[in-house]
Amino acid sequence: MEPSPSTRPAPVPAPVPAPAPAPWVMRRGRSDDAEDVVALWRRAGAEPTVTDDPASVRALCAHDPAALVVAEVDARIVGSVMACFDGWRASFYRLAVHPEWRRRGLGLALVAEAEHRLRAVGARRVNALVVSDHPHAVRFWEAAGYTRDPRMHRHVKTLS
Ligand SMILES: CC(C)(COP(=O)(O)OP(=O)(O)OC[C@H]1O[C@@H](n2cnc3c(N)ncnc32)[C@H](O)[C@@H]1OP(=O)(O)O)[C@@H](O)C(=O)NCCC(=O)NCCS
Repeated sequence: MEPSPSTRPAPVPAPVPAPAPAPWVMRRGRSDDAEDVVALWRRAGAEPTVTDDPASVRALCAHDPAALVVAEVDARIVGSVMACFDGWRASFYRLAVHPEWRRRGLGLALVAEAEHRLRAVGARRVNALVVSDHPHAVRFWEAAGYTRDPRMHRHVKTLS
């Protein structure tokens, strides 16, 4: 005889598969990554600046060895960000993800890793410089939880 609904054993829920591990590994960037990091920025189409050269990346690594975060797949750098803390505010610079690795969460993973490192050194507020007519970048930073501050705009000077 069929058990009545009240005596029937509860169905055993199907096991939930563990999430697949990320295909990339994150690590601190080093001076000897400088050439590859600059090549990644060019490949990624990051907005060029006066400091887009290996010597400037090496100078940053010497000044703040924790600032550069890189993501690697099969020992190849496919993403990077610089997260700098001056003791008062933190700033993100040159977030870049290789075109072949976009829209898989790597940009957000780089920001999360960099935020973790910034918190560990005492940073409480972080700025992200975003090119205002790059809608993809604006949407990315919004997705990462960064709100636009309409009271501010940037004043900048290049020291020659
Ligand atoms: C911006 C950039 C770093 C994003 O990297 P990414 O690994 O593709 O980002 P993620 O996969 O983590 O995207 C997270 C979310 O950001 C938003 N986003 C990312 N790229 C976007 C795009 N091209 N258009 C619209 N929204 C976008 C989406 O909400 C996305 O979530 P979804 O994929 O679930 O829709 C990458 O496009 C890049 O290197 N661009 C060139 C350099 C640049 O503009 N850097 C930013 C400087 S401020």
